[in-house]
Amino acid sequence: MKRMLSGIKPTGRVTLGNYIGAIKPFVSYQDEYEMIVFVANLHSMTIYQEPKDLRKNTKDLISLYLAAGLDPKKVTLFLQSDVLEHAQLGWYLGCMVSMGELSRMTQYKDKASKLKKDESIGAGIFNYPSLMNADILLYDPDYVPVGEDQKQHCELARDIAERFNNRYSETFKLPEPLVPKVGGRIMDLQNPTKKMSKSDETGKGCIYILDDINVSKKKIMSAVTDSDNRIYYDVKNKPGISNLLTIYSILSGESIDSLVDRYQGKGYGEFKKDLAEVVGQELQKIHDKYNEINQGNYIDEILTEGANKARYMARKKLAKVERKIGITIKK
Ligand code: TYM
Repeated sequence: MKRMLSGIKPTGRVTLGNYIGAIKPFVSYQDEYEMIVFVANLHSMTIYQEPKDLRKNTKDLISLYLAAGLDPKKVTLFLQSDVLEHAQLGWYLGCMVSMGELSRMTQYKDKASKLKKDESIGAGIFNYPSLMNADILLYDPDYVPVGEDQKQHCELARDIAERFNNRYSETFKLPEPLVPKVGGRIMDLQNPTKKMSKSDETGKGCIYILDDINVSKKKIMSAVTDSDNRIYYDVKNKPGISNLLTIYSILSGESIDSLVDRYQGKGYGEFKKDLAEVVGQELQKIHDKYNEINQGNYIDEILTEGANKARYMARKKLAKVERKIGITIKK
């Protein structure tokens, strides 16, 4: 069975973009692949988190993974901070990557370009990809399912794995990023040329999975479109409608072509109303399960078991790395 690994940061509230670009695909892969899914809480520390919010967001994310359908009997689910080997390997790999490579990462460049006067950027944000490389390479996954914005980080992990293998002999499998063909980049509903993001300042362009369902439906109804009133897929000229078609297609399972056919001659109002219903139904299913899980007390058990399994794999790999690089004197 081929192996997959991925993680999500528990910063802010989980968005429809996270759900479509990552969580929903994870669920669809769990029968076919050996899945390792974690909460990237070490990564969340690159920007200040209010401790009580971090605790809540972490529990919410685990509950959402489960509510969306990840089955802990099939998937290894754990908190990154529970497996210390991530940080340890992150250090070694951070010593093998250049400042130039890290400064070419678009996520870092984006953050750096948005700095306000007198604001400085944390070293954690710069070094972030080294930890992510460790997350990935510790487990030898074949694939890393992510949204489009994380593809570059996964490619760096591949380069660093290759560098390590060349320098010290074959150690790491070269992972491949797996970005959904449709839904790898869900756009902001108010500004469809920008990615839907947790850090959206107004919150109007972003649907949060755990928000009140009527609020989410209203956001769909007031999504920015254009004045043409015809429904077809054309990202360049009709980014708003194309984004809504993508969301509709992923959540309903109906292809974009079939949706375009079905809505021929109909206006945006009817299309958005139907999409709002589809979004509402999907969120309702998740909310029902989320409430049950979040109030139950088996999350701790799942995380303990997941961390034990992950630790076993991670320790073996780290020991191998430490033998190869000569940091340990044990044979
Ligand atoms: P994070 O927490 O920013 O996002 C989690 C996942 O959601 C995807 N995503 C989107 N997909 C489609 N449309 C969007 N608008 C959208 N916004 C976010 C992201 O691409 C991602 O797959 N660095 C990672 C977490 C991480 C990780 C890892 C991932 C840490 N270590 C190892 C894979 C492997 C991150 O910040 O994701």
